[in-house]
Amino acid sequence: MVKSFKGTVLVAGATGRTGAWVVKRLESHGFDYRLFVRSGAKAVELFRPEVVDRLSIGSIENDLETDAALKNADAVISAIGGNVMSPDAPPPSAIDRDGIIRLATLAKKQGIRKFVLVSSLAVTKPDHPMNKYGRILQMKLEAENEVRRLYSEPGYSYTILRPGGLLDGPPMAHAMVFGTGDGFETGTIERSDVAEVAVISLFTPEAHNLTFELIQGEAAPQATLAGYFSQIVP
Ligand SMILES: NC(=O)c1ccc[n+]([C@@H]2O[C@H](COP(=O)([O-])OP(=O)(O)OC[C@H]3O[C@@H](n4cnc5c(N)ncnc54)[C@H](OP(=O)(O)O)[C@@H]3O)[C@@H](O)[C@H]2O)c1
Repeated sequence: MVKSFKGTVLVAGATGRTGAWVVKRLESHGFDYRLFVRSGAKAVELFRPEVVDRLSIGSIENDLETDAALKNADAVISAIGGNVMSPDAPPPSAIDRDGIIRLATLAKKQGIRKFVLVSSLAVTKPDHPMNKYGRILQMKLEAENEVRRLYSEPGYSYTILRPGGLLDGPPMAHAMVFGTGDGFETGTIERSDVAEVAVISLFTPEAHNLTFELIQGEAAPQATLAGYFSQIVP
């Protein structure tokens, strides 16, 4: 497979647990990136001082900050998620729905052609227990719908990843199970592998305009995760 992606990737939510892995996997593929974060200090602590040249600081609740972060990007990978466990955090309607819609709308307006979104398994299941927390899965589905609408226009492309429960192990140490139709009852996956799949979605033809679920299978070293897209029959 040819790595055809060239350009700068804006990582939204780069100081999150999945976002930090997206940065590491972009580096391992040799791709250029910028980081959209709420805290520069957290970014410097998590990565290294030189990352300061790549930072845009702000919140996806703010139009101007979000628009500024998107300048000169060629693709966006969002690993942003609201914190439903904190009563002080904005609700999922503000982050997982409106924030993502703001990011995708402003990205499209700037002519950014590729949008990769980390969403969640079970977003199409209104009775799922996670929906007790600010209807978070419903909010994510509404954001997904808008990303699909905006980015299915010719010349643009989206990939929406719906991972199972997130774990913190190393990448490329498990087989993957990909599927469509939100049919997996349960499953887990390493954040590092979600990040790797998000990054390869930038240049993998099968990931074009695709929404899919991903969980891990058996422990087994992996040279690439690109082959798992063929599990999805169009
Ligand atoms: N936990 C699970 O098992 C699970 C399962 C499936 C899907 N997911 C979804 O997968 C994604 C990644 O999960 P994760 O556990 O890696 O996330 P995480 O560690 O909680 O990170 C979330 C990121 O979102 C950022 N963020 C929150 N509000 C923001 C705002 N207003 N403006 C800009 N950035 C903001 C946070 O910034 P700070 O770094 O400044 O806090 C952080 O970087 C999320 O969408 C999550 O809902 C989670």
